[in-house]
Amino acid sequence: MIAVGVAISGSGTNLQALLDDAARPGCPYRIALVVSNKADAFGLERARRAGVAAAVLPHRGLSREAYDQTLVAAFREHGCEWIALAGFLRIVTPVLLDAFPQRVLNIHPALLPAFPGMHAQAQAVAAGVRIAGATVHFVDAGTDTGPIVAQGAVPVLAGDDAAALGARILTVEHEIYPRALRWAAEGALRITERGVEAPGPTWVWRS
Ligand code: GRF
Repeated sequence: MIAVGVAISGSGTNLQALLDDAARPGCPYRIALVVSNKADAFGLERARRAGVAAAVLPHRGLSREAYDQTLVAAFREHGCEWIALAGFLRIVTPVLLDAFPQRVLNIHPALLPAFPGMHAQAQAVAAGVRIAGATVHFVDAGTDTGPIVAQGAVPVLAGDDAAALGARILTVEHEIYPRALRWAAEGALRITERGVEAPGPTWVWRS
């Protein structure tokens, strides 16, 4: 059973998907700690309801590196082997990445490499793309640039604003993140020169 640490900043619907998956018989991972840089993140409540340790680690006054040291210490204290960023609105540094080499995943609400960075759903609407989606990827030193593990696609419908599109994208996020984390926990992901090898379907499409 692989212990996973999850970092959030907000609502935590992806965290909920992971907590729900972890509760299913045979799931190869458990959520050992949820950390938030925001004290009012609803995801903290989700963790408590699931009986999972939750910690607020405020970033105020700390350098990015010093902050990541506090993250690493907390995750280590709880025995975490993999880290899942789930709506964590912080840029992480090599301090975290070197502590968990090739063991940090993120979910981004766009079909990377399109629309990295903030407000990806609004970027997609503004660009007039017809298909949008989400990506689970390994975290590297760049912003949303790491090796892609899985993607979920949804249509962009006439009249969509960023919120409507974002809600549709979340439905596929909640499918692909647990799937990717299971593969991670099973040791089934291989980063190669041609991308990430995974043992099952690495995409979903929902209309
Ligand atoms: C998701 O859209 C995720 O892709 C992005 O932040 C959002 C977090 O949503 N990184 P939630 O907190 O999991 O509901």
